[in-house]
Amino acid sequence: IIHPVILCGGSGTRLWPVSRKAKPKPFLPLIGHETLFEQAANRVAGDNRFTAPVVVAGPQHIDLIEEQLSGPHRLIVEPSAQNTAPAIARAAALLPADDIMLVCPSDHHIADSSAFRRAALAAAALAQDDWLVSFGIAATGPETGYGYLHHGEALPGGFKIANFVEKPDLKRAKAYVESGEYSWNGGIFAFRAGYLIQELQQHRPEMAALVAQSVSEGREDGMRFHPAAEPFSAIEGDSIDYAVMENTQRAAMVPADMGWSDIGNWAALQDALAGESDDAGNVTKGTIDLDGCSGVLAISDGPRVSAVGLDDVCIIVSDGEVLVTTRDGAQRVGKLPGAANQ
Ligand code: GDD
Ligand code: MG
Repeated sequence: IIHPVILCGGSGTRLWPVSRKAKPKPFLPLIGHETLFEQAANRVAGDNRFTAPVVVAGPQHIDLIEEQLSGPHRLIVEPSAQNTAPAIARAAALLPADDIMLVCPSDHHIADSSAFRRAALAAAALAQDDWLVSFGIAATGPETGYGYLHHGEALPGGFKIANFVEKPDLKRAKAYVESGEYSWNGGIFAFRAGYLIQELQQHRPEMAALVAQSVSEGREDGMRFHPAAEPFSAIEGDSIDYAVMENTQRAAMVPADMGWSDIGNWAALQDALAGESDDAGNVTKGTIDLDGCSGVLAISDGPRVSAVGLDDVCIIVSDGEVLVTTRDGAQRVGKLPGAANQ
């Protein structure tokens, strides 16, 4: 049996002005009618090999979660955001040590759910043998915001990871992609709950101790669990990638060809919506008039947007804010005052 653990944390400022602090990226219907969070939950729903999900999130998002998740679930309410390692460890501490947890971020899109479930089963089988298993995505470019997995010896359904490198600089990312020996880390992991805790104790003993304390002093409230705030806020935050995956000797990966995109910025959303584009590669939502444009993404929640002769530009109108950026500039949107100071 596999316990899905859905993480809801980050703010998604690069998808401003649609993504806002009060309603960040996971809770938006960016592709199709469902939000990314709903999609993450639905990928494992209605299949008896998966239990009801455990959702780990901050108090400010509980209402959105309850609104969007109709089925049964457990909620771990984080007193503060301390990045993914404590979030995952806290869920692990609440699960039976020999059960498998499937860590699912809620900030990406997966087009092929059956391929996802196949990969999850392969990953769970390896996790049962105390491998810490990551989903490997074919690396198509030198993205510096991802982890890179160096393929090692073959294992049933996957590979050993010879080297896990989180967010390398551009030079190294280029070399990794050119070598053909690396996959991206999809951010989805399968662990045996007890083994994950054991590895965290080895590599981050202080964090492991504070997580254990915040869980043992925590409070159960129906299907909600509130870890104790004081030991928790003393944790030095870190991601699971840096805290455990880069350090373990037991990292493995399953290759997952499932139409994965982390929709990191507006250009990435445009690529993920390529199926809806017109002959010139324009994707539009709302009242949009384009003349002589190509490769344009235009989205408006109200005002008419009219554009002439533009190539490779994103125009986003949402809730009284207007963003115009080239596709190349889309990665820098999160640093604009409107996005950063909301
Ligand atoms: N509950 C909770 N608490 N969730 C969190 C927290 C937290 O403190 N911090 C982050 N998350 C959630 C985010 O909402 C997201 O769904 C997931 O955990 C991953 O966190 P990100 O902050 O988005 O990580 P990243 O994108 O920089 O990097 C990770 O994902 C990449 C793929 O998208 C790494 O695992 C990379 O190696 C990987 O390539
Ligand atoms: Mg992310």
